[in-house]
Amino acid sequence: MTSAKTDITIAEPAQNGQGKKLFIKTYGCQMNVYDSERMAEAMGSDGYTQVESAEAADMVLINTCHIREKASEKLYSDLGRLRKLKKNKPDLKIGVAGCVAQAEGAEILRRAPQVDVVVGPQAYHRLPAMARAAREGQTQQLDTDFPAEDKFDNLPKLRAARGPMAFLTVQEGCDKFCAFCVVPYTRGAEVSRPAARILDEARALVERGVRDITLLGQNVNGYHGAGAAGDLTLAGLIRELAKVDGLLRIRYTTSHPNDMGDDLIAAHGEVVQLMPYLHLPVQSGSDKILKAMNRKHTAEQYLRLIERIRAARPDILLSSDFIAGFPGETDSDHAATMDLIRAVGFGAAYSFKYSARPGTPAAEKAEVDSDIADARLQEMQALLSSQQYGLQAAMVGREVGVLYEKAGRLDDQLVGKSDHLHAVHVTDPAGKIGELVRVKITASVTNSLKGQRIG
Ligand code: SAH
Ligand code: SF4
Ligand code: F3S
Repeated sequence: MTSAKTDITIAEPAQNGQGKKLFIKTYGCQMNVYDSERMAEAMGSDGYTQVESAEAADMVLINTCHIREKASEKLYSDLGRLRKLKKNKPDLKIGVAGCVAQAEGAEILRRAPQVDVVVGPQAYHRLPAMARAAREGQTQQLDTDFPAEDKFDNLPKLRAARGPMAFLTVQEGCDKFCAFCVVPYTRGAEVSRPAARILDEARALVERGVRDITLLGQNVNGYHGAGAAGDLTLAGLIRELAKVDGLLRIRYTTSHPNDMGDDLIAAHGEVVQLMPYLHLPVQSGSDKILKAMNRKHTAEQYLRLIERIRAARPDILLSSDFIAGFPGETDSDHAATMDLIRAVGFGAAYSFKYSARPGTPAAEKAEVDSDIADARLQEMQALLSSQQYGLQAAMVGREVGVLYEKAGRLDDQLVGKSDHLHAVHVTDPAGKIGELVRVKITASVTNSLKGQRIG
């Protein structure tokens, strides 16, 4: 196995990938979406342009997710298909990035000899050099280092915006070590980017037409980056971002309940650009399970926290993540989760069946019967979707801001996101993508709202 680390020349746009085509397939969370864009730009500075299919590409990059077993398995089925493609097109280069690359890099190379490049999330700035080495005949390169240099400083700075909404990574990694979760191992320890860099990136995005930025971090409300006068919390960073001219909306994800500081809660009531939507995963409503998960708070503490957040911003829409069938979960633990869901009322939610992940403490424990876990998941999802539709329908008659994102299916129709992140269809012949307008909501359909522009 060879490594490209030695012959790296970072950020030197050699352009000898000129004319080459890159296809990126992205799995996983928003951070992977953001990372894929950054990798596309890094490769772009070496001459690659992006295409929409593996068949049209000279290089295929799979940006992977390791969070649940099903997510990881997708990599190997993709690699099977790519092996066939490469047989007919021997010059095709195959790269694997993301959290499976980080967790199982050497294993991927062993199982899939057709793979040329494996690159972990902290080494993306080295991808163009690795691709170059691959073109020159080096196969099976692996870089899953956590390098000393900051990848963000070594990735191209200016991004082309792909619409009025964008992600911006402010923090990466996690120190929480929930008993079920691979993220602390795949993304490493928590690191916050300096505020000045984030502000620069936000301004560059706004110049390119972005109006709504979602700040990303695995534990984003644990943000503590260097500011002009000492470290800033996430609330401090949001207040700085709120001064950026033309940035109309700010969101952030994903937060841990234990890091919801008083200043962040206050910001929800005070910063007009901070949108009334909060994703605050709780995972379970049972204190016994929360403890076994190492979440370090009780159900009651979560409920009190929600009360304080709602006191600061009464119309906030809450979203959460839940796991069904964590080891040791009984019917009464599950009932406690259902009670918590009823007590809060969530406007959106993601729920998952527990998946034992190699290397995590929970993977050592006896699993709940699979059918029981499935049944609990279904029960949870039924309640969560009825809450979601109920809260969506309750928007009818209200006036909300809508940021137009793209054309709708009907003539003169535009689709955008409301303050609460609902998709809203508006017939507006004079409207333009990127415009933030006032809309009166007139109807709630399956997965979206309809509205009339009023300002
Ligand atoms: N950093 C975020 C989310 C990380 S992963 C947080 O702390 O909440 C997103 C969600 O995937 C988690 O909130 C959890 O609900 C789910 N998840 C993580 N590991 C899992 C596992 N082993 N099995 C099932 N769901 C899991
Ligand atoms: Fe995983 Fe989130 Fe827990 Fe960190 S806080 S270990 S990312 S679930
Ligand atoms: Fe998946 Fe890694 Fe994101 S495991 S959820 S891609 S941080």
